[in-house]
Amino acid sequence: MNKKKIAVLVSGGGTNLQAIYDACDSGIITNGEIALVVASKEGVYALERVKQHNEAHTQQTETAVLPRKAYADRKSYSDALRELLDNRGIDLIVLAGFMIILDESFIRAFENRIINVHPALIPSFCGDGFYGLHVHEAALAKGVKVTGATVHFVNEICDGGPIILQKAVEIEQGDTPETLQRRVMEQAEWKILPQAVELFCAERLEVVDNHVIIK
Ligand code: GAR
Repeated sequence: MNKKKIAVLVSGGGTNLQAIYDACDSGIITNGEIALVVASKEGVYALERVKQHNEAHTQQTETAVLPRKAYADRKSYSDALRELLDNRGIDLIVLAGFMIILDESFIRAFENRIINVHPALIPSFCGDGFYGLHVHEAALAKGVKVTGATVHFVNEICDGGPIILQKAVEIEQGDTPETLQRRVMEQAEWKILPQAVELFCAERLEVVDNHVIIK
């Protein structure tokens, strides 16, 4: 089986991108490789991670920067992104802290080939407005004792697609949104995102009636 070509879409620090790179190096991911990283803005640290990866490896990752404001609307942005991914024969698209909502036509074109990592146990603390630190602020405001992370396929409902993997993380006394965000990343996101990527690349995921079956 040929290795699947992965595109990772980022908007920030890129720690989840790093987790995928590390999983490729350590043999957790064997059936895929990161062929392309698309950033929604110049200067994000995720791009520096690609540079460092490329300096240390023969397998190179191409980068592209696609700022939302360079396009008139969501549709034209999504069309440009789709062309970029199609031209490179991308098999899997990973949204790793990508903060731009994509057009429905884009999501349909890559049905069950886009995965997202969300820093909570969906259906808690998800949907419109729940991204990044806001998710952890909401969890702490509610006073839940357990939170976590979810990796899911992307469909037209925000954070509503079929769930691939979830992992719970305990909230501790005195947690701040920042300490909780870090623990959710370390204990959950950086583990289940690479695992889900490998399951996809090994063709072990099947979606039946909106549910993910792991073969
Ligand atoms: C991660 O915590 C990710 O789960 C979250 O943004 C952060 C990106 O960090 N994504 C969302 O909130 C999407 N709704 P990273 O750039 O270091 O990977």
